[in-house]
Amino acid sequence: MITKCLFPVAGYGTRFLPATKAMPKEMLPIVDKPLVQYGVEESVEAGLTEIGFVTGRGKRAIEDHFDTNYELEHQIQGSGKEILLDGIRELINKSTFSYTRQTAMNGLGHAILTGKSIIGDNAFGVVLADDLCFGEGSGVLAQMVKLYRQFRCSIVAIEEIPSSDTHKYGVIAGESMGDGLYHITDMVEKPTPEEAPSNLAIIGRYILTPDIFEILENTKPGKGGEVQITDALKIQAKNSRVLAYKFKGRRFDCGSISGFVAATNYCYQKFFAEESSDKVVPLTKSFK
Ligand code: G1P
Repeated sequence: MITKCLFPVAGYGTRFLPATKAMPKEMLPIVDKPLVQYGVEESVEAGLTEIGFVTGRGKRAIEDHFDTNYELEHQIQGSGKEILLDGIRELINKSTFSYTRQTAMNGLGHAILTGKSIIGDNAFGVVLADDLCFGEGSGVLAQMVKLYRQFRCSIVAIEEIPSSDTHKYGVIAGESMGDGLYHITDMVEKPTPEEAPSNLAIIGRYILTPDIFEILENTKPGKGGEVQITDALKIQAKNSRVLAYKFKGRRFDCGSISGFVAATNYCYQKFFAEESSDKVVPLTKSFK
């Protein structure tokens, strides 16, 4: 059984300043829901209802969001607006939330290692809320959990990217097993197009087996002087097996302004445009 999911949310979100000066980037809304709520919904849909946040200074709003707000809920009782809170209430009822703090910003590998006290000796999911994913059929994490049940090893979600973007991602080399699955043979964190072993980039969804913690404890800082999960996974791939999965669905990089706007337009079109009573004209359908 895999029931836990880690959300590293300590990052500053400097690309969205000044919006993120006093507010966590994970709380930026895509239409009417904060980014992080989409991630938690995806996790809960996959059966991962024990949510662990690796937070940092200034992230209180995330804790408050996944909690009851008695005053507000009392105020709007009987006003017809309660329905707007149904989704988040259901999420809170179905899940548990734990928090631990990353005291130094030392990379994604370090953030995941910080979550060890929450995870213990279990396989677990990792969601980077910046990557907003809409799965086809089922959510991306649910697709990965299904594969985990079959293969019992770490799995990373991947997507094809243009070679001009390799410097933004961990990039894998692997042998195709069919059905979008690859057996990873190598991985490089944020390579130049020349260094990149393929055009298959890791996106922010992982299933990790708990031996990753011991590997991370011994992983030296890599790219950018930070402890990289990619480096630890590369060792795990050599020791045992790590798979990469070309997920079915769409991903938006909401850590960038253009990805954030594209996600907003996509969600508006998909979930709001037709039922919109205020007849707001969609910004544009052709945003690139
Ligand atoms: C992190 C990882 C990288 C991965 C990316 C996915 O990078 O280090 O390997 O491809 O997430 O979003 P970051 O975006 O935190 O710089």
